[in-house]
Amino acid sequence: MSLISPWRADFPALDALEREGQTYLDSAATAQKPQALIDAMAHYYANGAANVHRAQHLPGAKATQAFEDSRRKAGEWLNAGSSGQIVFTHGATSAFNLLAYGLEHLFRAGDEIVISALEHHANLLPWQQLARRHDLKLVVLPLTAQGVIDDEAAAALITSRTRLLAVSQLSNVLGTWQPVAQLVALARARGALTVIDAAQGIVHGRHDVQALGCDFYVFSSHKLYGPDGVGVLFGRHEALAQLHHWQFGGEMVLQAGYQDATFRPAPLGFEAGTPPVSGVIGLGATLDYLNDINHVAAAEHEARLHELLCAGLLLREGVRLVGDPQVALASFVVEDVHNADLAHLLTEQGIAVRAGHHCAIPLISSLGLSGAIRVSLALYNDSTDLERLFNALDQALELLR
Ligand SMILES: Cc1ncc(COP(=O)(O)O)c(C=O)c1O
Repeated sequence: MSLISPWRADFPALDALEREGQTYLDSAATAQKPQALIDAMAHYYANGAANVHRAQHLPGAKATQAFEDSRRKAGEWLNAGSSGQIVFTHGATSAFNLLAYGLEHLFRAGDEIVISALEHHANLLPWQQLARRHDLKLVVLPLTAQGVIDDEAAAALITSRTRLLAVSQLSNVLGTWQPVAQLVALARARGALTVIDAAQGIVHGRHDVQALGCDFYVFSSHKLYGPDGVGVLFGRHEALAQLHHWQFGGEMVLQAGYQDATFRPAPLGFEAGTPPVSGVIGLGATLDYLNDINHVAAAEHEARLHELLCAGLLLREGVRLVGDPQVALASFVVEDVHNADLAHLLTEQGIAVRAGHHCAIPLISSLGLSGAIRVSLALYNDSTDLERLFNALDQALELLR
């Protein structure tokens, strides 16, 4: 079956990569960018860069307007209700660190933070270190054999001692959707704060933070076809009001003296210093682009490609999928073959996939693996990319066996 992506031509890097003999199948690490983003950022730099929220002059006013337009678009993308609930950070990782420091004052020794066994280090280590600083207990929700957080175990482990739940919406290793709506409902009923790591989930389908009911929802622009260096932290007004300021500097301040200062509320109070202005503007242009494409068709295209990917991998002798991937990516191992050796041979043939622990060492170790190869798809991939992958895989396996 041949599957052509009608969106491929919107991403000029795909042609450039092809000229270099590269097949890009690592979009879960970072996605290629649409021309609309490149144009918007080039326009900003070519027509006058300026700092935001501080200058009276025209370039400053234009930059501030474009920056705040992007905040509105990000809020609309998530159905946040109001753009005042959108804080721009420097990425998902910096948003989790902001939360782990900003909420620190709410925890007492013995309180529990609940995460799951599949968390990316970005949504594990900030909580782990918080727990170590305050003698908290980090409770880890187990997974089913399919790689989904076990809801029965969750019902037993999320208790009145739980102060915060932080879980991924879509696993970056297993490609499995997690029952985040149920977990959020459970945690909120026990009085806990809820944080959703949407770094992967945001890329697939549309998500509604009001319907989800979470307190915080985090993603990185660069995985959603946007620029790097930009993260989006949604927080409900009531939840943001509980955050203490944690980074201090320009623009987050209301009044400052030598001995004391007062600070702005969210969102600006959590955007100390010069924010990534061009990146935020680029994210706005990316969201405009994504709003214009046919979502149903894009989701169907990705689903068909994913089926082809999983079926093609399973056809190869000795290949085993890690978990039961549902969308956009598949991690696999091959019997008697080290993933690093295989990755090396794939790289030599121009196949850009990711090998190793995928920033989830505890998960990979708990599965008894030293690593896995992850193939990840985006709306610009088509079936020729998979044919190239499978040809390269066959050649590599022939050499390794
Ligand atoms: C599930 C998940 N969470 C968090 C992150 C961290 O994102 P960033 O490196 O953009 O901060 C990633 C990145 O790979 C991820 O896949």
